Amino acid sequence: MRADRTLASLALLGKALAFWRLECRGRLSMARIDPLVTPGEPSVHAHAIHGSSGFGLNPSYEDLMNGDCTSCGVKQDMSAYWAPALYFRHEDGEYELVNQVGGMLAYYTLRPDAKNPDAGIRAFPPGFRMVAGDTTRRNYSVGTQNFKDADPEKSIWALLGQTKQSDLRQRAIGFNCMDYSKAPEGALYRHYLPEKPYLDANCRDGIRIELMFPSCWNGKDVESADHMSHVAYPDLVTDGNCPRGFDVKLPGLFFETIWDTAQFKGVPGEFVLSNGDVQGFGYHGDFINGWPEKLLQDAVDTCLNLSGRQEDCPLFNIQSEAEQNACKLNLFGTLSVEKTEGKIGKSLPGNVPIRYGPEPAIGNVPPASTAPTSHVPVPTASYKPGTTSAFLPGGVFKEEPTTTAEPPKISIQAAAAAAPAPKEEEVTTSIASPEPTPAPAPSDPPAPQGYEVVRTEWVTNGNVVSKVVVVETVEYVMLATATETVTVTASFGAEKARRELHHLRRHRAHGLH
Ligand SMILES: *[C@@H]1O[C@H](CO)[C@@H](O)[C@H](O)[C@H]1NC(C)=O
Ligand SMILES: *[C@@H]1O[C@H](CO)[C@@H](O)[C@H](O)[C@H]1NC(C)=O
Repeated sequence: MRADRTLASLALLGKALAFWRLECRGRLSMARIDPLVTPGEPSVHAHAIHGSSGFGLNPSYEDLMNGDCTSCGVKQDMSAYWAPALYFRHEDGEYELVNQVGGMLAYYTLRPDAKNPDAGIRAFPPGFRMVAGDTTRRNYSVGTQNFKDADPEKSIWALLGQTKQSDLRQRAIGFNCMDYSKAPEGALYRHYLPEKPYLDANCRDGIRIELMFPSCWNGKDVESADHMSHVAYPDLVTDGNCPRGFDVKLPGLFFETIWDTAQFKGVPGEFVLSNGDVQGFGYHGDFINGWPEKLLQDAVDTCLNLSGRQEDCPLFNIQSEAEQNACKLNLFGTLSVEKTEGKIGKSLPGNVPIRYGPEPAIGNVPPASTAPTSHVPVPTASYKPGTTSAFLPGGVFKEEPTTTAEPPKISIQAAAAAAPAPKEEEVTTSIASPEPTPAPAPSDPPAPQGYEVVRTEWVTNGNVVSKVVVVETVEYVMLATATETVTVTASFGAEKARRELHHLRRHRAHGLH
């Protein structure tokens, strides 16, 4: 009985973690083109473009499908993928494109809607397109979180009121500091581009920029006026529950591009995205579907090998890296002469000004000529290794190979990367903590029977400080070799002494006694 249940849940689990990693080793182009935002004309800023050579200023699904080649690894996929590029501004004002390493990886994660797992995953329909992120954004505004702090544990996001689409959108961006001599950081761990001194000191293999797309769909519109309101994020960004009205689960698209920031180690200057953003809050990406619908549906239904290798999906015709690299976009008009690679002179492509926040980069507000002081000496969340049980289990880049024979170890606690990140030594000027001192804590509630308190932590949300007591029960599954660690986060309502199995939580308002 019990064993059957265990096996069934492991099978479900396997399915829920399946994904494949589409490799786009070739870059189709580096150009000011963005057919979603500015169809028919050059776009405001430059993008690194990958995918079908049928791409252009306003390509239809058919145009993409009729392209001669794709710069990605699966020949049948004629989709288009694009995102901003990373430039380096030298001290003398000259811009230079940072080397992009390995092209782009587009992960297709296959995670059903948590509240309706049997509904499965629907292939992108013909004509489907979407944007993730907001190029005008210049701040991070989820809860009261300093943008340099690590996110609270995912299991309490809802409790903290941090599952609004605007919150999830900001957490869908990641800047992963790469150092292959260490265990990799978790995906989407840091939501801003670290300053150059940090990159120089810690990220000797460059920075990996990550972007998760919304994967819940309203089931009818292939596009919308803002290119995003026909889709929504599930409540944990990469997975979880889809919001009401967005009940059709699509494959989860996750872009990764690596930029060799280390090539400028010790060189004075700063990094800036092609949209004039030095902090990364305005990072974004675009997708136009170019898959044959049935093939993608079949792949979504059957290509569930946990290795994530595109070669392990027998439906795909794989092409070599050389073929991917040979696929290029024919540029025309002004775009064919505009310099976007190497050293490009004293302005970004399209003359995009650098704009610091926190106001959105909209309209004709004169751009700040120098970085505001608040931009400089803030403590930086430091290195923290990711957990293999977290998002993307198949090994992102140089992780240790995971054996697929063994059922994955699930530790909700670990996956959530809960503890506040250790702080890097603060740079000279110390910044007053934005959080008021928490009121003294009432004594800890006893753990419910059968559970053990493993740790307590404080979270601040507005003027409410909550103490979250994490308790844990360990269940040994006899059949499988894996130990399933289930974390139940529990809390107590102070007045009502109400006990819930989920969050036991104590509220205290600041300034009250
Ligand atoms: C999954 O992929 C691995 C190689 O990465 C292969 O050895 C294995 O046979 C595949 N499993 C299935 C069920 O196809
Ligand atoms: C932060 O960014 C959002 C979105 O661009 C904007 O609406 C808000 O006004 C900004 N906050 C500040 C303090 O400028």
